[in-house]
Amino acid sequence: MSTPETYAADESIRRQELLDDAFASSTRTLLNDLSVPDGAEVLDVGCGIGRTTRHLRERLPEPARVIGLDADSDLLAAAQDRSDPDSSVDLEYQEGAAEDLPFEDDRFDVVYARFLLTHLPEPDDAVEEFRRVCRPGGVVAAQEPDFASLGTWPPSRAYETIRELAGAILDPQMGRKTWGLFRAAGIEGPEGTGEPAVQAVVPVETDDTVVRELYTMSVEVTAGALLEKGELGPEEHEALVADARQVEEDPDRLTAAYTVYSVWGQV
Ligand SMILES: C[S@@+](CC[C@H](N)C(=O)[O-])C[C@H]1O[C@@H](n2cnc3c(N)ncnc32)[C@H](O)[C@@H]1O
Repeated sequence: MSTPETYAADESIRRQELLDDAFASSTRTLLNDLSVPDGAEVLDVGCGIGRTTRHLRERLPEPARVIGLDADSDLLAAAQDRSDPDSSVDLEYQEGAAEDLPFEDDRFDVVYARFLLTHLPEPDDAVEEFRRVCRPGGVVAAQEPDFASLGTWPPSRAYETIRELAGAILDPQMGRKTWGLFRAAGIEGPEGTGEPAVQAVVPVETDDTVVRELYTMSVEVTAGALLEKGELGPEEHEALVADARQVEEDPDRLTAAYTVYSVWGQV
């Protein structure tokens, strides 16, 4: 049986699996668009259980080495467990902080992060670090959520409340802010001139059980954190979780996910 600590870790792992099931296609689309040389050294910042690390290994043209870095050692252990030992690409995981990357200047050809900056109190420090460890001519890319589109029709109290209150635990507007953070860090357009590139996608679904399970878990986690911070009372917390579970079962409901902003450029 799980202890409370391992249950929390298991739940984080399940959420990251669902997150990737829901958003892998937008990540593959971005990676297909990047111009990267063979034999690249690649860094995945905030890699979690390593789903994104493996997308980088599979989608980029024959990288020499992909390093996944995360601050959470439990998630890194899960990433190690899921690694394919037969791959020719050197895949490594390392513990560290995005705001103080344990690498020398100009080390990587590609620095990538997904759904990381939204969780950081000082995301500009992390983007500065992405630029610092990326070699001149290398690529920096990030994918970040923006909560404005999150909702259902007919409306769901749980989704709307979470959209309004999520700012207590993360930055729900990080998607739209990321392009400006790249510019401020001196990251240029993909061909070395002009502005960083940006694209935004809103996944909309009517019966995708993966997305619905992900959102029920997200409502539970966000509402739980808001309860702990005293931003929600116990009854409201219970009502929100019940509402999210009802949405998950409702075949007549359309769900709009958060918008995923992809931003990329060259150092
Ligand atoms: C929402 S998960 C995203 C995981 C993965 N990039 C993905 O898209 O599937 C955010 C990850 O960032 C990590 N993280 C949060 N703050 C961090 C920091 N300051 N430095 C490094 N990793 C951090 C968390 O441990 C978590 O694994």
